[in-house]
Amino acid sequence: MPTHANIPVTIAVAPGDGIGPEIMEAVLRIFNEAGTGLSYRMVDMGKSLFEQGFSTGMTPQAKEIIEETGILFKGPMETPKGKGVKSINVTARKVWNTYANKRVFKTLSGVDTLYSRAGIPVDITIVRENIEDTYGGIEHLLTHDVALCRRFITRPGSLQVHRYAFEMARRKGAKKITCGHKANIMKITDGLFLETFYQVARDYPELQANDIIVDDLAMKLVTRPDTFEIVVLPNLQGDIISDLCAGLVGGLGFAPSANIGDFVSIFEAVHGTAPDIAGKGLANPTALLLSGIMMLRHLGLADKAVKIENALLYTLEGGVHTRDFGGNPAAAVSTREYADAVIGNLGKAPAKATPTAEEPAGHAFTPPVKPAQNRVLVSPKGGAEKIVGVDFFVESDGQPEGVAEIFERHLPPTLQLVTISNRGTQVWPTKSVFTDCINQYRVRVESKDLAPLTQQACLAFATRLSADIKLCSLEMLMQYGEQRGYSLAQGQ
Ligand code: NAI
Repeated sequence: MPTHANIPVTIAVAPGDGIGPEIMEAVLRIFNEAGTGLSYRMVDMGKSLFEQGFSTGMTPQAKEIIEETGILFKGPMETPKGKGVKSINVTARKVWNTYANKRVFKTLSGVDTLYSRAGIPVDITIVRENIEDTYGGIEHLLTHDVALCRRFITRPGSLQVHRYAFEMARRKGAKKITCGHKANIMKITDGLFLETFYQVARDYPELQANDIIVDDLAMKLVTRPDTFEIVVLPNLQGDIISDLCAGLVGGLGFAPSANIGDFVSIFEAVHGTAPDIAGKGLANPTALLLSGIMMLRHLGLADKAVKIENALLYTLEGGVHTRDFGGNPAAAVSTREYADAVIGNLGKAPAKATPTAEEPAGHAFTPPVKPAQNRVLVSPKGGAEKIVGVDFFVESDGQPEGVAEIFERHLPPTLQLVTISNRGTQVWPTKSVFTDCINQYRVRVESKDLAPLTQQACLAFATRLSADIKLCSLEMLMQYGEQRGYSLAQGQ
């Protein structure tokens, strides 16, 4: 395998908006002075691109360069609000299928926190699923009162993120890996995330794999952060928990992140554009620098990553700080002076904190080979699949009994009305009159003896119903082998 001694690496760089250009300039100067040998292709992305009419927030050339290099190092970016455009940050993560968001939260000597004062070390890596969950942003206003967001958790998507997390844990020599979830409530979606976690765990017997309900995780992270090593979570839960972890180590100024995909990976700080301090030279570049250090390791430049990391730790230990952290705000340095201090300390190692051990340069990074077409990820089927019913989501401001009566009027002999629920709570055939209803019911019909149904039969029934009630949406009820593919209503 060639190493970087003979292969130069090119990366795409987007400085971003707000404080982005200032912190990016600081970090690239440190990279150059540390002799990383990287070459940069600057790409146009961010707020000004939306303003120029690029609905994705980037030029086609930017997209091409990022796909060619396979690496995007980006500053924070602003998505104009209320213009109907999607967040460029989320778009970038999803378009290039960066399925794992890795965020490292580590106590840094010189960064004063409640935990550092209490002598409790924090070293937690969060791996957040980065594409699915509610972040599909698939939302509908089904009635004027009812908004719905679809939450996708898929088997191939979950397997990708779990495999990445376990592989990373093995490389890191970790002992323990934990899956955070809410499978006690969302038995099918989070249940699938959890099931695939333990499926992958079987290939890593040296790692202690366990799981925890996300609310309990939040409490334990605050009370005993030192008991967690690597935590893997679905997207939304991972988003919230990772900001909690940022708070444990000194805030967003110290929270780096890597968005890892099979073809393209994106490295960025967790924080935003900080418009309140933009252009003033006050921004803290540490989170972007730590993201860059993760990127150097990803590129096989671990030796350079160690050199910069040790210089940063030495600098922090010496009390150098920007205005947002450290002791006396009056003694704070500018973004540029902070970078100069790190550059001046290249080659030094911290005395109080444990220096990062030397690591050899890794295998040379190879840019992705463009696939001819989209990959379609499908796992093997577990058994015979059949449609056994339909959930109809209908609009009505009447009583549940009235809705039942309309359905029963149209019901063919092959189908039976099973339950009607409102916001997931059963209100027919049995109910409590204390259950408040809103103007949408979920009406479940199933085939008798769960005999297989055709789509045509279900849709013909839907067409007949639509003469008497407004259908908002419908879901086919599936059975996969012995497994029921739908949840029961509360109280059913
Ligand atoms: P923010 O992270 O930009 O700022 C929150 C607070 O933290 C502010 O007081 C800010 O001054 C401070 N702060 C953040 N980073 C700092 C740094 N490096 N050094 C010193 N202080 C720092 O969050 P906010 O205000 O909610 O978002 C501002 C804009 O950033 C929005 O347009 C948002 O959409 C965008 N954003 C972009 C992200 C990205 O590109 N990945 C992530 C989060 C927000």
